Amino acid sequence: MPQTKSSAKASDASATAQGTSTSSRPISVLFVCLGNICRSPMAEAVFASLTASNPGVARIDSAGTGAYHAGDSPDSRTMDTLAENNINDYDHAARKMVATDFTDFDYILAMDEDNLDDLESMRRRLMKKDSSAASHRGQLMLFGDFGGKKGEQVVDPYYGARNGFSVAYEQMVRFTTGFVEQVLTKVENPKNA
Ligand code: 4NP
Repeated sequence: MPQTKSSAKASDASATAQGTSTSSRPISVLFVCLGNICRSPMAEAVFASLTASNPGVARIDSAGTGAYHAGDSPDSRTMDTLAENNINDYDHAARKMVATDFTDFDYILAMDEDNLDDLESMRRRLMKKDSSAASHRGQLMLFGDFGGKKGEQVVDPYYGARNGFSVAYEQMVRFTTGFVEQVLTKVENPKNA
């Protein structure tokens, strides 16, 4: 399976430009929300399920901009929604973003604008300390940019109705499908490299 948590550096990538260029090696993708217990684990699980046999994917993970739930399992409503859609093999412990995530992943995909703003601030602060990070940084975007309407956000379902998790699930499937079409079809098959 390509979806291991083994290391792959964004600095090795030749393709980071929103699906317009070609990568000569499999890519890595990090999904990010606030708590890393509802949306980004769901995104990771759906993406892993839908790309399980895709040789263009080297690594998938998820993280939170906050550490409130570090070490926790995904929210039970996320796991229930995954199970309702026959995804039963997902396991994750919540973690906060770390500096190396910005350079280890080719794509860092935020769930909403607040997550994206927080990630941009974190990266700006890091680059002030170490400007070399700028030369091999991953592509920071909204996951929803791959859904057909630029700027689509995944609303945080944590405090909302149970329906919010089903809505998020439908978005994850649609965004993953867009990512596969727009990015993974342009990743060279490593078997041909
Ligand atoms: P997530 O949802 O960002 O989709 O994981 C949340 C989970 C927990 C909290 C906020 C959002 N919280 O404040 O505890």
